[in-house]
Amino acid sequence: MCGIVGYVGSRDCSEVLVSALTKLEYRGYDSAGIAVFENNEIITVKTKGKLKDLEDKLGAVGKPQGHIGIGHTRWATHGEPSDVNSHPHSGARVTIVHNGIIENYLDLKEFLISKGREFLSDTDTEVVAQLLDYMYNGNPVETIDSVMAELKGSFALGIMFKDYPDRVFAVRRESPLIVGVNEGECFIASDVPAILQYTRDYYLLEHDEIATLTREGVTFVDEHLEPIEKELKTADWDMEAAEKGGYPHFMIKEINEQPSAIQMTITPRIKNGLPCLEECGITLDKIKDFKSITIVACGTAMHAGMVGKYVIEDLARVPVTVDIASEFRYRNPIVGKGDLVIIVSQSGETADSLAALRLAKQKGATTLAIVNAKGSSIAREADMLIYTLAGPEIAVASTKAYITQLSVIYLFAFELALAKETISPAECKRLVSALRKMPEAVQYVIDSCEEKCKFIATKLINAESLLYIGRGLDYALSMEGSLKLKEVSYIHSESYAAGELKHGTISLIDEEMPVISVATQTDVIPKTISNIVEVKSRGATIILVCTDACARKLKEGVADYVIEIPHSDELLMPITAVVPLQLLAYYTSINRGNDPDKPRNLAKSVTVE
Ligand code: AGP
Repeated sequence: MCGIVGYVGSRDCSEVLVSALTKLEYRGYDSAGIAVFENNEIITVKTKGKLKDLEDKLGAVGKPQGHIGIGHTRWATHGEPSDVNSHPHSGARVTIVHNGIIENYLDLKEFLISKGREFLSDTDTEVVAQLLDYMYNGNPVETIDSVMAELKGSFALGIMFKDYPDRVFAVRRESPLIVGVNEGECFIASDVPAILQYTRDYYLLEHDEIATLTREGVTFVDEHLEPIEKELKTADWDMEAAEKGGYPHFMIKEINEQPSAIQMTITPRIKNGLPCLEECGITLDKIKDFKSITIVACGTAMHAGMVGKYVIEDLARVPVTVDIASEFRYRNPIVGKGDLVIIVSQSGETADSLAALRLAKQKGATTLAIVNAKGSSIAREADMLIYTLAGPEIAVASTKAYITQLSVIYLFAFELALAKETISPAECKRLVSALRKMPEAVQYVIDSCEEKCKFIATKLINAESLLYIGRGLDYALSMEGSLKLKEVSYIHSESYAAGELKHGTISLIDEEMPVISVATQTDVIPKTISNIVEVKSRGATIILVCTDACARKLKEGVADYVIEIPHSDELLMPITAVVPLQLLAYYTSINRGNDPDKPRNLAKSVTVE
């Protein structure tokens, strides 16, 4: 999604803006631009393409010389990626950058055209710039407030008024925006990494609050234009966490961070060998009466929910439905008082997941958020909250967030099973102890499988389509393996319940279709092996991810490539088995010459519908 930055201080503003934008590249973008006050004039430079293209253009036309400005990376929604559609956009006296969507922009555009305004771009953003200019009454904050009353949608804006060359204004509704502060300088940004090189102190802008940034500091007013005091926050991770640290890509760095991410996430939530989620607002008493659970999320987070379904149902015997947030929110779901709705999200800002959370609350359900980004909207609005302590996840393809989401879901499942008395404290302690071994187990899998995955990935370079199959938890995991591969390699892939193949999909199998099978669940391994034999006999190349125990029993020639992982508690196998799937995706992406950190068309944080 689009990234916004802004600066007021005494540094070289163009440099600050471009540098801050590089820290938001992970969000995904197709064009970039900056606007800077130079001798009281607003100078805008923008281009289609990457930040490198913007830097080249700044080199060619001369970078604006000044200390106050705004910058933007655009992920196209309205209008194709082009120079003219890139941000910043301007009216005669106003220049803005924007993240999000203005839902009523066509009505507003029509109105402004009827007033004689002309538009250069196809964007909804230019409509806001023109509207600000049209409604400008000489007082920027009042004008922004009046314009906010006219806008529908979710958005964050960085704004400069030509008449006020010493300040930048910021406002948001739904879309995230923070205001960083330091001695003699202030920043705005869509996310904390953008400002970490300058300061760790920041404010979270709330809905419809307006911030005014000057060298003297920042002031805030609410939607009634009443001045407000806000709590200053401090980022608890530093630049290093948001840098590649010697790895060629964030994705492989984050895969390698998984052992410590799991450790960080589970350790504070275990006491005396049992789960302890009291600090997250969860006690045995509070959860023992839930009759049903719905897990709602998008993409990888939803796949973590799929694993959760198998684990919670198995241990706590509570029915679990997993729903895609964009479906849940529009289908009048059956949830209400006495039901628990769990929202899983790395960013905590995914528009559909946030809307699903609000709908669940409106219907009377109790909500639990499992979120990585501190202070995000989902984290703040849920009734109960468990943070995954994965640290910043920069690569678009989620890896360490997924594995920590699983870790939290396991802890919650253990706690719920205790509350429901479907497992004994002794059994719970055994499971917790097995979970505690996961950081070491994941490290072992990374160390022992990476070279093999790298090699097998060379065999996938020319594949046009792949199938991932598994049963039970292995099927839930296959979904994540398939998504990981397709998002970074651009090879089509599907995940399928292995037993369902015969009902149609097996007709796709031929020599050109590699099949990746996951087999870690002892009860169903013989069944999965039968399915593997069926697809193998139709010409498919088989890549099998299985436990060492399974590999020992495997007949010669059943699979073309076998990736063995150590056997642990069966329920916990997705934690280790996902690692080779992540590595296969990463190396296939590299082999095909892609940038796995910034897959085409994708954004890290999907803050629009
Ligand atoms: C997966 O690699 C993607 N990053 C994507 O599917 C992601 O999990 C999804 O967009 C949900 O994001 P969230 O966890 O921030 O809500």
